[in-house]
Amino acid sequence: MSQHKVIYDTDPGVDDAMALVFQALHPDIELLGLTSVFGNATIETTTHNVRFLAGRFAPGVPVAQGAAAPLKCLAPEPLAWIHGDNGLGNIALETGGEAALDTRPAHRFIIDMVRAHPGEVTLIAVGPLTNLALALADDPGIASLVKQVVIMGGAFGTDGVFGNVTPAAEANILGDPDAADIVFGAPWPVAIVGLDVTQRTIMSRDYLASLRDRGGAAGQFVWDVSRHYETFHEQSARLAGIYTHDSSAVAYLLAPHLYTTRSGPVRVLTEGIAAGHTIQKPSTMPVPAPDWDSRPECEVCVDVDAAGMLALYEHTICGTL
Ligand code: BDR
Ligand code: CA
Repeated sequence: MSQHKVIYDTDPGVDDAMALVFQALHPDIELLGLTSVFGNATIETTTHNVRFLAGRFAPGVPVAQGAAAPLKCLAPEPLAWIHGDNGLGNIALETGGEAALDTRPAHRFIIDMVRAHPGEVTLIAVGPLTNLALALADDPGIASLVKQVVIMGGAFGTDGVFGNVTPAAEANILGDPDAADIVFGAPWPVAIVGLDVTQRTIMSRDYLASLRDRGGAAGQFVWDVSRHYETFHEQSARLAGIYTHDSSAVAYLLAPHLYTTRSGPVRVLTEGIAAGHTIQKPSTMPVPAPDWDSRPECEVCVDVDAAGMLALYEHTICGTL
């Protein structure tokens, strides 16, 4: 029996797609739904990509379209140089098999599913957090009914890294800093899987080639979809491989023992040159900090067993769990 009922909130996005395949193939995850959000591309593109991915890897799983823009500003420009013009590394997307779209907006879909399965639903959110903030605004009572929220986003500087889209901010949090500050402050259990661990977990070209050769259709897809993304990493970070962002949130859910965490409330700067910056007050810090102290503790990942995470992904894709 599946251990985790998951709603996957996503902005595909190459690494979002790789994380979806991971969830679809792992026996401990039951996907209750997929919700799209703007981010790596426009909402039209990310929603099309979610429908494509659902049709191909998660048939029967409902898909709902989410926010087109952040709570308080216009949608950002798509990140075509990272994720390709179509958000999926410019691979050809066969047409005809796309999943149908649920009639509800994503945040309503989330509310309905959480209320239908009280205490059971895990939200894995790997794009801007707008849909989750909208769900909380519409029905604050869901916070106490959600089992866990696992977020890929943020950067806490444990490796000297505070951001990837500005010196101070990670992409998903900068995508909607107001939403992120709301989500981190809500009374639900939040785990944050940020750049501190995702950039320490690198899928090398040889690793990806091995998935291609041993992982059947899923492995071939992971290889194909990551070619453009790998070129981006080579050019921007001189990496012969790719950072493991969104799949790390999935790995945290499946195998939290692979991660070292630090507890404490987290705030997000919502304006100024450091907008999107994430700051935790560790629970061990004795000084008062009123802007943090009234808020719930989040678990922030500060270290990872990267080899263990990569082995988990590999075994899942290759069917050797
Ligand atoms: C995050 O930003 C997006 O580009 C990726 O899909 C990932 O969710 C990494 O900063
Ligand atoms: Ca993403």
